[in-house]
Amino acid sequence: MHLITLLLAPLAAAAARVPYKNYILAPASRDLVPASVYQVNGSVTNAKALTRSSGGNVTFHGVSSVTYDFGKNVEGLVSLEVGSASSSSAFLGVTFTESSLWISSVACDATADAGRDAPLWFPVGQGAGKYTPEAKYLRGAFRYLTVVSNTSATVPLHSLHVNFTAAPMQNLRDYGGWFHSDDELINKIWYAGAYTNQLCTIDPAHGDALIHLGTISSTDNISLPRTDTWWSNYTITNGSSTITDGAKRDRLVWPGDMSIALESIAVSTGDLYSIQMALDSLLVLQKPDGQLPYAGKPFYDTVSYTYHLHSLIGMSYLYRFSGDQSWMLSHWNQYVRGLQWALSSVDSTGLANITASSDWLRFGMGGHNIEANSILYFVLQEAQQLAQTLNHTSSVAQWSRIAQGIKSAANELLWDDKAELYRDNQTTTLHPQDGNAWAVKANLTLSDDQSLAISKALRSRWGTYGAPAPEAGATVSPFIGGFELQAHYMADQPAAALDLMRLQWGFMLQDPRMTQSTFIEGYSTDGSLHYAPYTNDPRVSHAHGWSTGPTSALTTYAAGIQLSEAAGATWLIAPQPGNLTVVEAGLTTSKGVFSVSFEHSGGYSHFAFQTPKSTTGMVLLPGATGTLVSKTGQRKALVNGAARGLVGGSWELH
Ligand SMILES: *[C@@H]1O[C@H](CO)[C@@H](O)[C@H](O)[C@H]1NC(C)=O
Ligand SMILES: *[C@@H]1O[C@H](CO)[C@@H](O)[C@H](O)[C@H]1NC(C)=O
Ligand SMILES: *[C@@H]1O[C@H](CO)[C@@H](O)[C@H](O)[C@H]1NC(C)=O
Ligand SMILES: *[C@@H]1O[C@H](CO)[C@@H](O)[C@H](O)[C@H]1NC(C)=O
Ligand SMILES: *[C@@H]1O[C@H](CO)[C@@H](O)[C@H](O)[C@H]1NC(C)=O
Ligand SMILES: *[C@@H]1O[C@H](CO)[C@@H](O)[C@H](O)[C@H]1NC(C)=O
Ligand SMILES: *[C@@H]1O[C@H](CO)[C@@H](O)[C@H](O)[C@H]1NC(C)=O
Ligand SMILES: *[C@@H]1O[C@H](CO)[C@@H](O)[C@H](O)[C@H]1NC(C)=O
Ligand SMILES: *[C@@H]1O[C@H](CO)[C@@H](O)[C@H](O)[C@H]1NC(C)=O
Ligand SMILES: *[C@@H]1O[C@H](CO)[C@@H](O)[C@H](O)[C@H]1NC(C)=O
Ligand SMILES: *[C@@H]1O[C@H](CO)[C@@H](O)[C@H](O)[C@H]1NC(C)=O
Ligand SMILES: *[C@@H]1O[C@H](CO)[C@@H](O)[C@H](O)[C@H]1NC(C)=O
Repeated sequence: MHLITLLLAPLAAAAARVPYKNYILAPASRDLVPASVYQVNGSVTNAKALTRSSGGNVTFHGVSSVTYDFGKNVEGLVSLEVGSASSSSAFLGVTFTESSLWISSVACDATADAGRDAPLWFPVGQGAGKYTPEAKYLRGAFRYLTVVSNTSATVPLHSLHVNFTAAPMQNLRDYGGWFHSDDELINKIWYAGAYTNQLCTIDPAHGDALIHLGTISSTDNISLPRTDTWWSNYTITNGSSTITDGAKRDRLVWPGDMSIALESIAVSTGDLYSIQMALDSLLVLQKPDGQLPYAGKPFYDTVSYTYHLHSLIGMSYLYRFSGDQSWMLSHWNQYVRGLQWALSSVDSTGLANITASSDWLRFGMGGHNIEANSILYFVLQEAQQLAQTLNHTSSVAQWSRIAQGIKSAANELLWDDKAELYRDNQTTTLHPQDGNAWAVKANLTLSDDQSLAISKALRSRWGTYGAPAPEAGATVSPFIGGFELQAHYMADQPAAALDLMRLQWGFMLQDPRMTQSTFIEGYSTDGSLHYAPYTNDPRVSHAHGWSTGPTSALTTYAAGIQLSEAAGATWLIAPQPGNLTVVEAGLTTSKGVFSVSFEHSGGYSHFAFQTPKSTTGMVLLPGATGTLVSKTGQRKALVNGAARGLVGGSWELH
């Protein structure tokens, strides 16, 4: 309890000041009723009554159904208040689906590799009263809920409530961060990303039991409906709340997914507690040789080189946002052993040769792979910085040498001058999205020109529905797309980043097959909701934390609020407006509130920022001139658009 209070208390205090709450999608109450009636089949009177909190008198006359729409993706445990049915053999069933594509009176959408999930059935003929299933039948995510009566009986239904169980430790609308600009689509994307991560944050007692892992495979032919395909009753972490990959599935801790989700959570709700619980659950699984798991329990014990590295990234990111030095120090030996395990794959070429090929379900993750080596290079930079901060510098020189070796070998062996992209490995002409985005993000490139060339080459491949990931078939990956957004900003191409958000995340937010509130896990380059790694389309998750890259990218790069050291003890304010003409954004850490607001077209007509008292930092406004003036009367002239050695406070450009 102590820790929770520690992490959440400053956020609660700051919450009252946070503007733009009207954009927050999280409900004000955890007691939900449907927003509207989507469809009625058969004879049902007064179906609309259940959209009122007080309920009413809905009557099912014989075989019939009503599909309700919650207006956005939600999560929780359903309960029905039923009147006296005309027959003791009457039943009411409930089905759930995230996408309107899978609305049905005989099955839910899916959580297993094949088939669809069974309805929840209630023997309402046995008597009037309240029917609530066991807690393990809470549904991880759904926008549409269908109530079906499958007999000739007359059945009155007086109310339908959903107990919203996501983000159990959060006061759902008390965000520590905000974002607003003149572009309404971009604003909605920021808040949908934040909400997606709220749905993916769960009570750890309700992780996926994975009952069919290894027993149902994608090639099985399963007739509708499976009666035993889903329940959420496996305790996946310690504590009271944890971040998972997805709300409907897998409801498990996946370190790769967290590489995107973590930063987007940190700049929005600020729920770092749920991240720490997730990381702790991975760290207890570390092997004596330093290897960290592909995923948390109850997933198979599997080795993944890249997901191993993502756990190390999770550790340094968490420390950067939380500033919790005692947590970081207590796990430092584990971090170092993890890094040493990864370095044991570096061969005489200078590159890591990947033999543990599990990754984000792309194919061909082996050999001298550019994505894995870029991520390793990134981790080596973070490790050196952490070691300096924590005064554990004995390995820094070695790490620096290995990093230089990776950088020169990658550029010598994997760079393709004609395509202006890296090849996936030495024996292919495929130019992956993941490795190229990561190479720029990690600064594996040798020059700004090279990063710019990659940004342009990636952009030139965009299709109607977004940026392709050819390393995973005809796939648009909103996960790797999140890293591509970061790469465009790092290549100083903010317009490309914004255009990709509008194109790809705009599609994801606005398409009628989606939830208009949360972001899907993946889809096809032709716009169909088929994610190549899966054969079972109803299984795709429509609320996946790894698809929330724009939320952190907008705060970090468009608004330019960057925490350089733990909890923002030092910071960099470096906006990249692109064609946004008005931006206001902020986030809260244990040190206080960091915020930026500006108006920009051609140049800055207004620029102001605020950072906590105990901190120091610098401002970069390329091309801008003038003097920064603080509320306390300090003045600092911009020199070549930069001002260094600023102390925390409220500053404005004059
Ligand atoms: C509900 O409506 C049905 C007819 O649709 C009626 O028979 C029944 O008496 C009503 N019940 C209540 C409690 O109003
Ligand atoms: C209702 O009927 C329509 C038209 O036959 C059908 O497409 C739809 O799937 C049905 N809905 C449910 C929930 O059964
Ligand atoms: C209605 O569904 C229940 C639960 O699956 C089942 O036991 C019952 O036989 C069904 N009734 C009819 C008439 O299909
Ligand atoms: C919702 O579920 C939580 C957790 O099980 C419980 O504490 C709470 O009382 C429930 N709320 C309602 C309105 O049923
Ligand atoms: C599923 O059905 C297809 C087409 O009928 C068949 O080719 C395949 O072998 C079946 N798979 C299994 C696991 O039975
Ligand atoms: C989850 O529920 C299923 C079905 O009731 C049960 O078989 C299983 O043992 C439960 N698992 C746990 C971890 O409680
Ligand atoms: C909870 O913490 C204990 C003590 O560190 C550890 O042994 C256990 O594995 C943890 N459980 C989970 C699910 O992470
Ligand atoms: C090299 O990359 C190609 C393209 O992604 C892939 O098909 C191949 O399997 C990779 N090689 C190894 C050893 O993984
Ligand atoms: C990577 O290591 C494997 C296993 O030792 C070996 O077979 C393979 O040739 C190596 N790949 C490269 C590109 O060196
Ligand atoms: C590291 O050393 C510096 C300078 O001596 C000191 O200020 C800082 O507190 C030390 N940090 C840790 C984690 O020991
Ligand atoms: C990126 O790497 C180059 C050397 O190739 C170095 O000069 C530059 O400082 C690095 N940039 C950052 C942000 O670390
Ligand atoms: C920014 O660019 C996008 C397309 O690239 C355009 O739709 C939008 O209107 C532009 N916004 C402004 C303020 O110019």
